[in-house]
Amino acid sequence: METLDLANTWDICLDFLYPKEYAEGLVEFLKQNKVKRVLDCACGTGFPAVHLLPEQDFSVVLSDGSKEMIGKAREKIQKYGFDATVQNIKWQELDRHFKEEFDCVLCIGNSLVYVDSWGKNTVNPAKAKAELGIALKNFYNVLKEGGFCYIDTTSRKEFENPFGSICKQFGKKKINGIEYSLVWLMGHDKKNKVRSWNPQLLEWRNGSVVGKQSHSLKSYLLDHEELEEMLHSAGFSKVDKYVKIRGEDHYDIFIAHK
Ligand SMILES: C[S@@+](CC[C@H](N)C(=O)[O-])C[C@H]1O[C@@H](n2cnc3c(N)ncnc32)[C@H](O)[C@@H]1O
Repeated sequence: METLDLANTWDICLDFLYPKEYAEGLVEFLKQNKVKRVLDCACGTGFPAVHLLPEQDFSVVLSDGSKEMIGKAREKIQKYGFDATVQNIKWQELDRHFKEEFDCVLCIGNSLVYVDSWGKNTVNPAKAKAELGIALKNFYNVLKEGGFCYIDTTSRKEFENPFGSICKQFGKKKINGIEYSLVWLMGHDKKNKVRSWNPQLLEWRNGSVVGKQSHSLKSYLLDHEELEEMLHSAGFSKVDKYVKIRGEDHYDIFIAHK
């Protein structure tokens, strides 16, 4: 197996994580809410933005803080022939680039908790919390009055696990002609407010493992009460919790209204 960096590993994880119905469900949700202009501020390798770009009802702007992730998103945009640019912007700097111009800011894929640690196996929880406050304020600042922010986050199911460590088996799947299996290990260090995530990808040929790739990342362990409180502190007037979107079964969705 060729060595896969985090961007390529994440891109394969996406195929395991989201069924086709999720992108459709999200489009439906945005249309129902009469959204016209979207910022996918954690566009990563292009999900879900590439599924939203063909829509006529709204326009989509893409940004992300990681050059590595953006590189992959740009490849896809070029491949599908979309007219879109991807900007390398950290959430903490969004309001230097945009005005109050979006109806919706998307922060999808349990991204928020990595505010200061994407790609790193270490996190400073106090610093991450401070950066989170700045990021949420910036999400608020780039929204129009009446706009909303869509954030998905670590699920209740994961928090309720009494062992503090969770193993999620995704089974096997053929992606781009290659058979992979995927396992995620998640750990919660409640005392220090640190979450760990360890995706393990195996490549199979004729029933045998021919390659493996794993990554270890740490993030801030953000619980739901704290997220809600921080959204209000950032200025959001109303927060809808546990919003359901067809096909989303991994994370809990919060919609924060300006
Ligand atoms: C788990 S990936 C999710 C990507 C994509 N939304 C998806 O669902 O496939 C998390 C993304 O959040 C981005 N991210 C984390 N902290 C960020 C920050 N402070 N500013 C901008 N992007 C950030 C990372 O670069 C990464 O692309």
